[in-house]
Order: sequence, then structure tokens, then C-alpha cells
Amino acid sequence: MSQYKALEEKIKACRKCDLRSTCTQVVPGEGNEKAAIMFIGEGPGEKEDKLGRPFVGAAGKFLDEMIGLIGMKREDVFIANVVKCRPPGNRDPMPEEAEACWPWLLAQIKIINPKLIVTLGRHAMERILPNQKISQMHGKALRREITGLGKQVFYALYHPAAALYQGSLRETIKTDFKKIPKILKVIDKGDGEENKKKEIQMNADRFSDENKQESLF
Ligand code: URA
Repeated sequence: MSQYKALEEKIKACRKCDLRSTCTQVVPGEGNEKAAIMFIGEGPGEKEDKLGRPFVGAAGKFLDEMIGLIGMKREDVFIANVVKCRPPGNRDPMPEEAEACWPWLLAQIKIINPKLIVTLGRHAMERILPNQKISQMHGKALRREITGLGKQVFYALYHPAAALYQGSLRETIKTDFKKIPKILKVIDKGDGEENKKKEIQMNADRFSDENKQESLF
């Protein structure tokens, strides 16, 4: 059994919060265990809860489309959520539920060790970049130190479901998605694995600087 599969078994057996008592099944996430890109959504919805897979509803369809836009397939990336069990009636996950589930997400990130973590929507962004506005943070890659994880490059995007009820966001999400290949290239070029542990300010400033971002992407 792979290290990831062993983790998945533990996630499926989790009872750390009350969500497990109301959901149908745990949705740990799925994809390539060696993915360069890991997407993090909010939590399973009705269809995900039924099928045990992340992003398989309408928002998932749009996400698949966006992944296709950057020349990849769902099987190439890894898709997870902040909470692994569906909140009743699709309500927002409560802070204590997200907190209880956080060690699982951390463990997933550690095993998959992606080059880039893409947060989808406010809730996923809040875990990584607390107290920020998604309207200001979307489309900017940032290198951040996360306790228990070390330095990682994060990229915040609007949630694909937002495009479904606010059509104007569709183009914004597309534009942000299209920057991903370039971000991966920059990570590869300037910030190889051996540099990960060093104190380099890498592209944090470069990525987050509006003006320079223009010239980069
Ligand atoms: N929305 C999410 O945030 N995650 C899913 O898995 C499905 C919809």
C-alpha cells in the first residue's frame, strides 16, 4: 500500500468532528500522488458526498475545463478539500471543523509534495492566507512559510462554483488559470528542490508585486 493510500484509510476512519455523523461518506480527495499541482477546495457537496469523489458536480465540470485549458487532465493533478466530509445542506465549514480536518490536509500536502498549491475559493484561501480578501489575492502566486509544512508556493483563485452564479468571474478564473504553467516554470527555474529549504525570498515579492506580475505573466 502506498504511503498516500495508508493516509487515505486513516482519513476515511476519522471521527474528529461531527460532520462524519451527517455525511454519507468521507471524500479524502483524488488524483496523482506525485502531482506538481494540488487544488484545494472547500468541502464535498451533495454529489461528492454521494460518489465519494471531489469536484464531480457542476463546479467540478468547470474545474475540469480549466485544468484542460492548461493542457492537463484531472489525473495529472491532485484535488482535495479543506474538510473531507460534507457539511449538512452545503453550509460553510465551521472554523472548528476546518481546524479538526487541517492535519489531514497537511499530511496530504507532505506526501504529495506539490510544487504549487492552488486554493479554490475563500475558505481554502483562509487556511493559508488568513484575513485576506480573495478579490485582492486571486491570481497572485505567493511563497509562504506554513507551520508544519515549511515553505510552499500558493496561488489563490476564485472557487469554480463562483463562475456558475456570477458569470463575470468566469473570465477572471480563466485568466488566472492560464498563468499556472508560467508559475510552474518560474518555480522550476528559480526555486529547485534544493533551494526549498534555504532562506530565499524567491518570488514572493515578484509574484505579489502587481507591476512586476504584469511583466512575468
Ligand atoms: N466544492 C468544493 O469546494 N469541493 C468539492 O469537492 C466540490 C465542490
